[in-house]
Amino acid sequence: MTDNTVGKRPLSVLGLGAMGAALAFAWLAAGHPVTVWNRTPARAEPLAAAGASVAASAAEAVAANALVVLCLLDDDSVGEALAEADLSGKDLVNLTTGSPADARARAEWARERGARLLDGGIMAVPPMIGVPETGGYVFYSGSRDLFDTHRDTLAVPSGTRYVGEDPGFAALHDVALLSAMTGMFAGVHHAFALIRKEDIAPKGFAALLADWLVAMASMVHTTGDRLESGDRTTGVVSNLAMMVAGDATLLRTAEEQGVSPELLTPYMALMARHLQDGHGEEDGTGAIDLLVR
Ligand SMILES: NC(=O)c1ccc[n+]([C@@H]2O[C@H](COP(=O)([O-])OP(=O)(O)OC[C@H]3O[C@@H](n4cnc5c(N)ncnc54)[C@H](OP(=O)(O)O)[C@@H]3O)[C@@H](O)[C@H]2O)c1
Repeated sequence: MTDNTVGKRPLSVLGLGAMGAALAFAWLAAGHPVTVWNRTPARAEPLAAAGASVAASAAEAVAANALVVLCLLDDDSVGEALAEADLSGKDLVNLTTGSPADARARAEWARERGARLLDGGIMAVPPMIGVPETGGYVFYSGSRDLFDTHRDTLAVPSGTRYVGEDPGFAALHDVALLSAMTGMFAGVHHAFALIRKEDIAPKGFAALLADWLVAMASMVHTTGDRLESGDRTTGVVSNLAMMVAGDATLLRTAEEQGVSPELLTPYMALMARHLQDGHGEEDGTGAIDLLVR
């Protein structure tokens, strides 16, 4: 049997929920010596069986290695778990989901305790961890030097995308992508509601809907281009006046099909406001300005 542990950086993983356990298994499988801790000890048993050392407390897990990965439920759990730990000289990688403000405050909190903190936002679900071909990755932000120091280790469970020195940027990118996804889910659910009572097979409709969303995804790039250039009118193929007029048909169809329009109307109201402000020849990009307070 070959030894795959040579030269592999040891690390501690705190939090063995669905995601933390997947991460810890991936590092173990790649030959990294891993120390694990979980508030509920039974969750560490499968990791111990796979070769991890189990720490009796979070403080013990932190003491075991210079590199400490946190994957807990929320930012409060990070503060609670690390309350008794000596963080001086430690490199913390916080993969716990939080807001940008949480990440910035936690980075400062770590600095005051003598530690460096890199924040991460995971763009994957647990089955994608350790399976590079699924395309999962983690946004990282904070010290570039800290990221570069641990880059190879961090690349083991998932892809890495470093997005800047501001510790809040990983969370901001994470939440921005999740917010777009939420809006997309709202549209998808409305579409299925429209056909729900008809003799239309959901699976066949799903294929049409998925292809349509992929075809429409190019508008994301158009929006980015327009925000950078400031040009809201050149080459507009679907202008705001036409789209707002079309909204009436979408709403009437919802009424005819007995479907609540509640997922669509806030967005439609925003577009109508932008039209009233005199932007009928633009596409929808300018409505972003109405959102920013
Ligand atoms: N699962 C996903 O699809 C996914 C995807 C992207 C990002 N994430 C993020 O990854 C993080 C972990 O998610 P998960 O899916 O692993 O969640 P999970 O299965 O619910 O596990 C939560 C973990 O947090 C621990 N915990 C909760 N409160 C604690 C506290 N006060 N002190 C110490 N430990 C505490 C739990 O310990 P116990 O076992 O003792 O309860 C458990 O280890 C979250 O921030 C989540 O947003 C998850």
